[in-house]
Amino acid sequence: MAQKIKTDPAIIVVFGASGDLAARKVIPALYNLFLDDAMPSDFKIVGISRSTFTDESFCTHLREGIESFGRRGIADEKKWAKFAANLHYIAAAYDDESVYDTILGLTLKGVPEPNFIFYLATPPSLFSVVTAQLGRFKEMRKDPHYRIVVEKPFGRDLASAQSLNEELTRVFFETQIFRIDHYLGKETVQNILAFRFGNALWEPIWNRRYIDHVQITVAEDIGIGGRGGYYETAGALRDMIQNHILQLLCLVAMEPPTSFDADEIRNKKCDVLRALHEIEPGKISDYVVRGQYGDGWSNGEPVRSYRREKGVNPKSNTETFAALKLFIDNWRWQGVPFYLRTGKYMPSRVSEISLQFRPVPHHPFSHLNDQVFEPNRLVIQIAPTEGIVLRSLVKEPGLGMNLRPVDMHYCYNEVFHAPSPDAYETLLLDVLRNDPGLFMRADQVEVAWEVLQPIMENWEREKNRSFPNYPAGQWGPPEADHLLAQDGHAWFLPICLEPNEK
Ligand SMILES: NC(=O)c1ccc[n+]([C@@H]2O[C@H](COP(=O)([O-])OP(=O)(O)OC[C@H]3O[C@@H](n4cnc5c(N)ncnc54)[C@H](OP(=O)(O)O)[C@@H]3O)[C@@H](O)[C@H]2O)c1
Repeated sequence: MAQKIKTDPAIIVVFGASGDLAARKVIPALYNLFLDDAMPSDFKIVGISRSTFTDESFCTHLREGIESFGRRGIADEKKWAKFAANLHYIAAAYDDESVYDTILGLTLKGVPEPNFIFYLATPPSLFSVVTAQLGRFKEMRKDPHYRIVVEKPFGRDLASAQSLNEELTRVFFETQIFRIDHYLGKETVQNILAFRFGNALWEPIWNRRYIDHVQITVAEDIGIGGRGGYYETAGALRDMIQNHILQLLCLVAMEPPTSFDADEIRNKKCDVLRALHEIEPGKISDYVVRGQYGDGWSNGEPVRSYRREKGVNPKSNTETFAALKLFIDNWRWQGVPFYLRTGKYMPSRVSEISLQFRPVPHHPFSHLNDQVFEPNRLVIQIAPTEGIVLRSLVKEPGLGMNLRPVDMHYCYNEVFHAPSPDAYETLLLDVLRNDPGLFMRADQVEVAWEVLQPIMENWEREKNRSFPNYPAGQWGPPEADHLLAQDGHAWFLPICLEPNEK
C-alpha cells in the first residue's frame, strides 16, 4: 500500500505546468500520493511555463484540476492547505538560461542534497531545449539525485527517437531517465505479470502447443477531440501501437523473468520485440490494415468525419485505426498469430487481451453438434472492467448431456473493494523511489520503432485512396475483418459487450 512507502526529499520541477497534462494527471497524482502519505516529508513542486500565474493563482488553477480530474477531489481541506504550501510557479520560456540557475539554486530547508525531478510535460518539440539547458550543469550527470521524466510521444520514428535518446544521454545516465508510458502503470497491466508468473497453472500451457492465437484490442469511443494538430503528426500506429499495445504484447509473450529487477523485466520485453517476424516491405498489406473514420454515430450522437475535424487536413491520410497481425519467431510462439487493433470512434471504450486456446483434440460427446465446442478463452480485461475471465465448457443442468460455455470472472473491484491508484500515481511514486521498472528503456523504445518503421514508410509512400473507410461507431474497416478471416479467425466482441452472460 502506498501509505507505507517512504520517499526521499525532492524538488519536482514541472515544465509545461500550465498545460492540460499537469492539471489533469501530474498534479492530481502527486496530491493523491500526498493524501496517502507517500510524498516525501520535504518537497517542493515548482511549475514552469510562460503563462502568467502567481503562486496563489497557480494553486487555484491546480485545485480546479484536482477537483475536476482527481479521483478523490480535494478530500481533506487541511491536507490541501499543507500540499498547496509546497506549490510554486515561475513564468518563463524554456530557452531563458537564468531560469535554470534559479531552479538549480532551489533548496529544501535542512536537506543537503534533495532529489531533483524534472518532469517534461511540454510539447515534444521542447524536450531537446530543456534537456540542453539542463546539460549546462555538470552536476546533472553526477548521481541519481537528478532524474528526468519524459512524456510520450518519444520521437515519431526510429531516427527521431534515436536522436532524442542521444540528447538525453549526453546529459543524463540512462538510469536517470524515466520515459513514461502510462499504460505500464495501470494495475491490470501490472497484474499480467502477477497472473502469469505468480501461478503454476498457466506457464505449462502458455505457448504454441495450447494457444491458438491472441487478440489485443484497445478501442476508444471518442474521436480526436481538439487535438487535430497533434493527431495529424501521429495517427493510430504512432499514438497507440508503438507504445501501449506493443508493451501489452510484450507482457503477454515474454519469457519468465528470473527476478523482478527492472532491467531483467525490460530485457525480457525487449527480447519479444526483437523476435517479431519482420514484415517484408512488399507484403505490408497482408499483415497491416489502416482506417480512418468518416461521418457516423457515437453514443447516440451524430459525429463528423476525421477529415472534417478542427486542425485536420481535409485530404488527410492519417489513420485513426490500425490492425496488425504479428508473429514471434521463437520456440514458445512460432506460428501463433498475435492480432492487434486500435481505433478512434469504435463502438465502445474497451481494452482487452484474449488468449484463444486450441480446440480439444477429441471429444467423446459424439451426439453434439461441433459448434458447441467453443475452445477455452482467457480474457484479461484492462478497461472499462478490470478483471480476468476464463471461458470453459460445462454441462448444462438437466436431463441429457448438453454442454455450454460459462465464464469464471475475477473482477478487481469486487475482490478488493478499493479503488486502484491512477497509473500516474504509481509511476510518479516509482520516480520518487528511483525505481525505473515500469518505464521504457532507450533500447525498448528504439526497437519498438524499428518494428513499425517499414509500415510507416510504406504508408507514407502509398496513400490510402479509400479513406475514410469506416463510419464512426464501427469496429474499423472491413479489411480488418479480412485480416483475420484469411486465417479462419474473427475478432471477438469484447467480453464486456456480449449481450447475455453465458
Ligand atoms: N494531455 C494529455 O492527456 C497527455 C497524455 C499523454 C501525453 N501527453 C504529453 O504531455 C505533453 C504535454 O501535453 P499537454 O496536453 O499538457 O500540452 P499543452 O496543454 O499544450 O501544454 C503544453 C505546456 O507547455 C508550455 N509551453 C509551450 N511552449 C512553451 C515555451 N516555449 N516555453 C515555456 N513553456 C511552454 C505551455 O505553457 P504556456 O503556453 O503557458 O507557456 C503548457 O504549459 C506533450 O508531450 C503530450 O504529448 C499529454
